[in-house]
Amino acid sequence: MSPREKILIAVAWPYASGPRHIGHVAGFGVPSDVFARYQRLRGNDVLMVSGTDEHGTPVMVAADREGVSRRETADKYSQLIREDLRDLGLTYDLFTRTTTRNHARVTQDMFRTLHERGYIIEESQLVAFSRSTGQTLPDRYIEGTCPHCGFTDARGDQCDNCGRLLDPVELIEPRSKIDGEPPEFRETNHLFLDLPAFADRLAKWIDAQRHWRPNVRNFSLRYVEDLKPRPITRDLDWGVRIPVEPYASDDNKRVYVWFDAVIGYLSAAIEWAWERGTPDAWREWWQNPDSRHYYFMGKDNITFHTVIWPSILFGYGSGGEFGAGHGDLELPYDVVASEYLMIGGKQLSTSRNVSIYVRDFLSRYDADALRYYIAAAGPETQDSDFTWEDFVRRNNDELVAAWGNLVNRTLTNAHRNFGAVPEPGALTPRDTALLEAVAGGFDRIGDLIATSKFKAALNEAMSLARSANQYLSDEAPWALLENDRDRAGTILYTALRAIDSLKILLTPFLPFSSQRLHELLGHDGWIAGPLELRDVDEDGETHTVLTGDYASWVGEWKPSDLAAGQALRPPEPLFKKLDPDKVVAEELARLEAAAA
Ligand code: MF3
Ligand code: ZN
Repeated sequence: MSPREKILIAVAWPYASGPRHIGHVAGFGVPSDVFARYQRLRGNDVLMVSGTDEHGTPVMVAADREGVSRRETADKYSQLIREDLRDLGLTYDLFTRTTTRNHARVTQDMFRTLHERGYIIEESQLVAFSRSTGQTLPDRYIEGTCPHCGFTDARGDQCDNCGRLLDPVELIEPRSKIDGEPPEFRETNHLFLDLPAFADRLAKWIDAQRHWRPNVRNFSLRYVEDLKPRPITRDLDWGVRIPVEPYASDDNKRVYVWFDAVIGYLSAAIEWAWERGTPDAWREWWQNPDSRHYYFMGKDNITFHTVIWPSILFGYGSGGEFGAGHGDLELPYDVVASEYLMIGGKQLSTSRNVSIYVRDFLSRYDADALRYYIAAAGPETQDSDFTWEDFVRRNNDELVAAWGNLVNRTLTNAHRNFGAVPEPGALTPRDTALLEAVAGGFDRIGDLIATSKFKAALNEAMSLARSANQYLSDEAPWALLENDRDRAGTILYTALRAIDSLKILLTPFLPFSSQRLHELLGHDGWIAGPLELRDVDEDGETHTVLTGDYASWVGEWKPSDLAAGQALRPPEPLFKKLDPDKVVAEELARLEAAAA
């Protein structure tokens, strides 16, 4: 077996500005967890980190809208999101927050180090102010026409149509989202990340990443053709304080939210190491050239991960409080970006009420049903359209009819007639062929998951489940029980081993039902859980994190060696069949009520 690899899985940080919808978890959530669970089953050392992104205008806008403080808004949605991600079974080693002291300390160290090295420069900048209130207008409060693609509803920070990062002054015919008035631009001083200083290194590095998805590599290559310094401070009073004078003593300036958020990947690893009592353990991923770092996100996050964050890492090198004497920080190995999940042809949106929230979804349907849908039909390489019809169809015709039915028939027959895994007689060529086909799935499906081809991986696993189902129907052990009980036992033994293997192949996608099947097959221990919320204390201030003890998992990415004689537990169905008419009617009524 190959030696254990150190794999960092860095998952985009959801804004604590509202509940997250199924499009968010289709973008960053399910893909990253399929990957993480597979890597752990392979025996690799996985560190999976993220948290809620709590600074900057998204949270300020939400707090203003709800008439509460930023802190209350951040606390409320951080908790809600954390619980949603737990309920979806996303196995973070640490899912923390950007409002921790640790995060501020790491962000400030990186900021200070880049500033000392001359990569952060001062320039004056035109900043938007509201004519009516005299207050600065955050980027997201400004809309206008994108100078790159002509989209008329581009935001001051980014164009949702072409994905370009923007500065509000670049917008054509800018207007305030609050009162529709054109903002007034005034000169103020800001600190800029000197991206042109990294342009050559970035271009060479990105060009060499031939294993990236083509959309990610091409988009990033185009982006670095024309780099300008980018402001990384803002006229706000909510965010990480700027560690450089005179900004440090200015109450109304803070670090730009994207600058601190990407640093979260490092600060969360540092928090994780410290929290488990091995304060230097993060270095085994971050300062180890043999480790591989995988980033997962939606496509609107690409340039932050392929350009901005790598520039910060280049600039920091082996400097500062965390780098000195320990070597350079590792760059991303892969940047896996999903496209968008739409509903009825529209982009899901929290503000426009075209939305299906994770919380609501999970209150009515199982997490594995949602994970299955996202993996099978989600926006892996192109935008995809969610419909309730399609969700129910995939649940009933694929999950229940193929996999659930196979498990059910096998377990019921074996448990009722043998109570345990039957002792097999000689295997026929058909028995052996099925077991070999399933065993062959491990390398193929593993390679597909390792290269982020999740849809193809799931298809392979499901087609093996269909073969096993066919085998069971053809061999019909239930018809042999009376006259050839030995042969019936051999068939059920074969089918049990096949589902014991399929259980592992499907664990990355369907962790909850695989765990239940694991127990029904008479095994003990966890192959897939549990997750845990834990309070972390920082000098008297407490925050809650999502974590889990995945090192104790008993599953391995290899074919079943299920022993004859192992007692089976009383079977129960793994999945629920849904009534298509009822679900569709109810859900459409809900969508309409929300949009009204
Ligand atoms: N909060 C951002 C979003 O939801 C993602 C931040 S990812 C990180 O689009 F890189 F900044 F961490
Ligand atoms: Zn655009």
